[in-house]
Amino acid sequence: MTDRTATLSFSDGSPSATFPVLPGTIGPDVIDIRSLYSRTGKFTYDPGFMSTAACSSAITYIDGDKGELLYRGYPIEELAVSCDFLEVCHLLLYGELPNVAQKLDFGSRVIKHTMVNEQMQFFMRGFRRDVHPMAALTGLVGAMSAFYPDSINLNDAHQRDISAIRLIAKMPTLVAMAYKYSVGQPYMYPRNELSYAANFMRMMFATPCEDYKVDDVLVRALDRIFILHADHEQNASTSTVRLCASSGTNPFAAIAAGVACLWGPAHGGANEAALNMLYDIQAQGGLARVGEFIAKVKDKSSTVRLMGFGHRVYKNYDPRAKLMRETCYEVLEALGLHDDPLFKLAMALEKIALEDDYFVQRKLYPNVDFYSGIVQKAIGIPVSLFTAIFALARTVGWIAQLNEMITDPEYKIGRPRQLFTGATRRSVKPIAER
Ligand code: SDX
Repeated sequence: MTDRTATLSFSDGSPSATFPVLPGTIGPDVIDIRSLYSRTGKFTYDPGFMSTAACSSAITYIDGDKGELLYRGYPIEELAVSCDFLEVCHLLLYGELPNVAQKLDFGSRVIKHTMVNEQMQFFMRGFRRDVHPMAALTGLVGAMSAFYPDSINLNDAHQRDISAIRLIAKMPTLVAMAYKYSVGQPYMYPRNELSYAANFMRMMFATPCEDYKVDDVLVRALDRIFILHADHEQNASTSTVRLCASSGTNPFAAIAAGVACLWGPAHGGANEAALNMLYDIQAQGGLARVGEFIAKVKDKSSTVRLMGFGHRVYKNYDPRAKLMRETCYEVLEALGLHDDPLFKLAMALEKIALEDDYFVQRKLYPNVDFYSGIVQKAIGIPVSLFTAIFALARTVGWIAQLNEMITDPEYKIGRPRQLFTGATRRSVKPIAER
């Protein structure tokens, strides 16, 4: 607890009220206003939660001014270089990086759950072949609650752990199934001898007609993409998962809600939107048209935004974007695509934006989505699948945050209030008099 306080006084003569100020281990203090309404009859008002901490958490910390991102205290730059995705999953879920024995145990638990129930493929048949992968994934993840009734009780720690392993293990299989369905190819079953990222690449790109050769550079790049997207404090989709799970619903339904929220172009859909934006600029003439495009972005009467730029929290360069740009460069070099016109266009756009007053004044920097599309396209992943890959990676973060909420003794069902601006009480008139 704390002896520091904040006092609210009212100009209408209402009695002032004093509230505790709670410190975190790092980052901004919070004013504990849980008793505000009962003591003053007033709510706070904060659409978009610009100044509101909805929970306490020990999982991920972002310093937006410094451009710093820590998973359980470890800088993302170190995790991306020194760990693989399953080690980061263990860290986010259980609070510590695994030792050798723990890594082997966790990895073998995940690999044993990578197959999905054979009936799930019949869900896919209900969709048109051009179904957006996020539409399929929202349905498939929610449907998992119908197949795994032995791990749907959120209040049972053992069932929560099994559902966590099932979700982490099966997301790659489901995402690959959505892709195979869209290209009319047979599904590829997971292989237990492959790493997490290599298994996903094989389920995506192998066919039954020949052996699949794993490309270690592409697998390492994909594994890093998963690490960079694994968790990110209380972003829109994570807050959706927390609010959904706070009703006590099952973990599969709560994660399906997170998938649905992530789909939006202002959030996880930005990587797809950013690449389509680069394609559009390229189609209109490429570098020669960048100035015209930037003018449109700055023109308030247009709704054009520089997708992959800006962030609610980062008011400096998103550290994930820096790592993504490095990965981009490595993959393009490895594939002999160093002259990739899209990458050159993206770097030119970034340079212009970082020097332009409009972006500098608003502290708009590239975010994780600006380069991720280019590297995924180079790996061979279709644009429409980018957000599904983001969802695959973010699943572990959603689960870790859900588990943290459910085990927080202070948690309650989330139920925000409102500032009512509608009609006051009035009576219904007979229709002839309306
Ligand atoms: C993710 O929350 C997370 O952590 C999310 C995420 C995660 O890992 O979970 O990091 C993943 O979602 C990254 C963000 C991906 N989205 C995009 O790249 C879409 C483009 N970016 C914007 O839509 C926007 O920057 C947001 C949504 C990301 C943040 O918006 P805010 O914080 O609500 O800021 P705002 O819309 O109020 O903008 C402030 C100003 C405005 O101009 P003014 O009205 O002050 O003149 O900046 C402008 C905006 O018009 N602005 C942009 C811009 N983003 C903000 N102008 C042009 N291009 C942009 N991209």
